[in-house]
Amino acid sequence: MTQPTHGGNVHKVARERRISVDQIVDFSANINPLGFPASGVRAIRSALQQIVHYPDPACWKLRHALAQHCCVDPDMILVGNGSTELIHLLPRALAIESALIIGPTFEEYAHALTDAGSVVQYVHARREERFRPPVQDVLKELTAGRSRFDAVFLCNPNNPTGRVMNRWCVRELAEAADRQQAWLIVDEAFIDYCQTQSVVSMLNEYPRMMVLRSLTKFYAMPGLRIGYLLAASKVVGQIQDRQPPWSVNSLVQDVSFSVLRDRTYAARSRTFMKQERSRFMCGLRSVPAMRAYPSAVNFVLIELPAWTCAGEVTDRLASEDLLVRDCSALPGLTTQMIRVAIKTAKENRRLIAALGGCLRKIQS
Ligand SMILES: Cc1ncc(COP(=O)(O)O)c(C=O)c1O
Repeated sequence: MTQPTHGGNVHKVARERRISVDQIVDFSANINPLGFPASGVRAIRSALQQIVHYPDPACWKLRHALAQHCCVDPDMILVGNGSTELIHLLPRALAIESALIIGPTFEEYAHALTDAGSVVQYVHARREERFRPPVQDVLKELTAGRSRFDAVFLCNPNNPTGRVMNRWCVRELAEAADRQQAWLIVDEAFIDYCQTQSVVSMLNEYPRMMVLRSLTKFYAMPGLRIGYLLAASKVVGQIQDRQPPWSVNSLVQDVSFSVLRDRTYAARSRTFMKQERSRFMCGLRSVPAMRAYPSAVNFVLIELPAWTCAGEVTDRLASEDLLVRDCSALPGLTTQMIRVAIKTAKENRRLIAALGGCLRKIQS
């Protein structure tokens, strides 16, 4: 299996630059800048005594909490070792031979599909339309009858474009996918920032629809690994059959149970992000020759000027201990694209100044 080329590899950068991980300001992974909640720290402390036992393979307590959180039946939930584990289980569990991916998007869908031998086709959002979700193009592809797909992958809100498809459009996709007897897999890893667009409530209407969620970004715990899938209970069973036993450890089960109930942290995070996003956008847009695309979430896609490229800017910023995501290799994007997470106001100001300085030096 190929190693992931995602953002967030602070360990590699620290090793290469011979610095400590703490010296790096990581804008390359989209993690909540408010940090791991205090409720999670308390939960880890009290869960420590449980590590002498195997974890609950059924994740019973957490699954019931998630079911309540999402207003679905607990049998409709499968918990995984990060949503990445679940993404990798899908192609074989659902016998997906051909898939349509709505891009440019998170590359793990294509990795999982090609690993399983599936054929992948893309419909990309267009740069000229500021990466607006390409609903009509996808519908055309699904109804034109040229190819038949076993599955359609939609990341909503989309990483790395930051755009969100409204739920009425997702419903149209669900109808079209249903007519083709294709699965519609909606990845809502960043839905906490625009909850009203979630399609979880449509699951009972569309038995071939499923939703992926992650707790690692919003609760700032990517090191702990936790995600879940929502689908019809029969489908959940089918996917679970492929999952290795005990893949979700007991610490993360208890921590997730606790942070899910931490409404104060969730509300504070949303309020912070809404305010900081607009401040950050203004700052980014003040950097000459650079374009920041609109975002509904906690990261921003940036197009650098044509006289430089993502690799050059990423390297220069790394030499200042600032890590950004080079998106130039993502299908559907150009060599000028980088993605940056929205962090604290101070860190964001530092990035804006560094970006401006770096572009000035390259141009001179
Ligand atoms: C859109 C999207 N989905 C899923 C994941 C995987 O998240 P995790 O495996 O940490 O739950 C990521 C990680 O970056 C992502 O961006």
